[in-house]
Amino acid sequence: MKAGTAPSGEELEKQIEQLLDQERFDPPAKFAENALLNDPKVYEQAAEDPVKWWAGHAEDLHWFEDWDEVLDDSQAPFYKWFRGGKLNASYNCLDRHVEAGIGDRVAFHWRGEEGEERDVTYAGLHRDVQRLANALKDRGIGPGDVVGIYLPMIPEVVVAMLACARIGAPHNVVFGGFSPSSVKERMEFSEAKALITADAARRKGKTAPVKPAVDDFLGELPSIETVVVVKNAGEDVAMTEGRDLWYHEALEAADAECAAEPLDAEHPLYVLYTSGSTAKPKGILHTTGGYLTGVAATTRYVFDLKPETDVFWCSADVGWVTGHSYIVYGPLACGATSVMYEGAPDYPDKDIWWKLCDRYGVTIFYTAPTAIRSCMKWGADYPARHDLSTLRLLGTVGEPINPKAWVWYHLVIGGRRCPVVDTWWQTETGHIMIAPLPGITATKPGSATTPFPGIEAEVVDEEGDDAGTAQGLLVLRKPWPGMLRNLYKDPDRFKETYFSKFGPTTYFVGDAARRDDDGYFWVIGRVDDVINVSGHRLSTAEVESAIVSHPKVAEAAVIGQTDEDSGQAICAFVTLEGERGGDDEMVAQLREHVAKRIGKLARPKRVVWADDLPKTRSGKIMRRLLRDIAEGRELGDVTTLRDPDVMSQLEEKVAARRDEADA
Ligand code: WTA
Repeated sequence: MKAGTAPSGEELEKQIEQLLDQERFDPPAKFAENALLNDPKVYEQAAEDPVKWWAGHAEDLHWFEDWDEVLDDSQAPFYKWFRGGKLNASYNCLDRHVEAGIGDRVAFHWRGEEGEERDVTYAGLHRDVQRLANALKDRGIGPGDVVGIYLPMIPEVVVAMLACARIGAPHNVVFGGFSPSSVKERMEFSEAKALITADAARRKGKTAPVKPAVDDFLGELPSIETVVVVKNAGEDVAMTEGRDLWYHEALEAADAECAAEPLDAEHPLYVLYTSGSTAKPKGILHTTGGYLTGVAATTRYVFDLKPETDVFWCSADVGWVTGHSYIVYGPLACGATSVMYEGAPDYPDKDIWWKLCDRYGVTIFYTAPTAIRSCMKWGADYPARHDLSTLRLLGTVGEPINPKAWVWYHLVIGGRRCPVVDTWWQTETGHIMIAPLPGITATKPGSATTPFPGIEAEVVDEEGDDAGTAQGLLVLRKPWPGMLRNLYKDPDRFKETYFSKFGPTTYFVGDAARRDDDGYFWVIGRVDDVINVSGHRLSTAEVESAIVSHPKVAEAAVIGQTDEDSGQAICAFVTLEGERGGDDEMVAQLREHVAKRIGKLARPKRVVWADDLPKTRSGKIMRRLLRDIAEGRELGDVTTLRDPDVMSQLEEKVAARRDEADA
């Protein structure tokens, strides 16, 4: 599609309507012909012997020592992959490419918010990673020591992750949008020895201090002995002698060479905290050999990635698992060229993504449904300003995609020629689990289609039996290489959360799903108390605990409510201390309070003042009923409530607010 030729207005609506009538989209013939995988037999081959299939992909990596056994399932659910093998993730992402003579290849076309550009090559990354690894080693950091990373979307975040991987220090990256107190909590839980951060971060033309905010809690975290600070926004910050180091000075002072440590295949690569159903986030632990095998194979085959010619762009933040797997480890293990953008999708203007696709000749673009819905709202004129003809494949992740957004993406961004891969997976699974193979699988808007070869998924009822085509619970029947190995220092919670409902060999996903007559999977959403806001996982308990920590709040219950823009939005039912009624000023205060405690993304969109909350006789809040109220549904069973009157009062309040909104 050339600039200016995208359909718009009525014509666009008409085309969208037509495409919505189309049930399935076959891979375009030309795409299929050139695809890395185009023979459906690959599914059968993988299913016959999944362990062998994965071993074949592991062989694509560099190993210092071969493994003795591909899968050790003797202590399920504590699975081990590639037992006895030794490798290094940083070696696989850097050294082997440099040795193969492609050191000059661009790993990242980085673009700053104000239009700055930096092309970071594999050789350049290799150089910086070795120096930072040495600087960390000089500070006594070695295998097994956790290093926190709290950085904006700048190339240094990749250097930091790979430097940790190089010396076997598991990293613990915290999304830049999380508040300092969330960082503190995550550092505390993981007993981090060092933290790599920045002076400040830029967001939409403004600069926000980072290091000073971090300083506020460092005094309470004696485990952190080293703080490395990237001079990002050129801000003056206080540096504590003996503890804090400037990143650029540390690199300059460090030795240039640092050999990658041969690490056990099961050596921890990283911990990444994600929300579960309690207020305490879960530290998802990923290890080296299996994870790298899984992310490399899925990057290659789900995105049909040809590193010599493709330019890949995953628009996620590195602070999420999507960034770990599909900005850093997957693409780099494959030797790909990627785009990395520092800023927001609407800054400096709403066409920035398409401008950068044009500028760098992006061929594969991977984003979240919520972002696509924003783009849809902003209108087709923004993408129409740019030449998007290099794009050949589009992907989505993070939440179910509504067919209209899928069709818009396919039509307006992909010019009808790009297959759309809807990829289902989780922080826990490490890599993509259910997704089309773009040269083989016919897609259906809204379905992630079928499991990746070697993966066995099923939808079951409460008893664990096949649910047929009825809605049920998604489970994974067989271990896969990138699966989480544990929850950081919490094996009991690991077993309880994932491997207890249906026994120790069936992974309980926590999503509801159904299969259609063709065996396609339609993931519906979470079945636990996890809310998915714009593809970001938050637990109701986490938000509740932030709200009740406000001195004026007596009690709060939080639910996820269907939302046109963000998929789900946070709705909080709040009871204030004393006889106080709430007002707009109080709503603003509470939102600000939650932003401070967790981050802006956790701010409730809606606050309903409640004199009381619906509780069972044993005092458990019945969120199910609050969800019914918020969605305007017929109320479910209320007979177990301690005080059934509470519901009618709440219903009136919610209805009154709805009238206000309509007026
Ligand atoms: C949801 C993000 C439907 C799901 C990689 C899952 C999806 C949770 C999809 C994991 C998809 C992710 N279709 N739902 N394609 N992808 N989800 O850990 O509920 O941040 O359990 O990992 O997001 O979110 P997480």
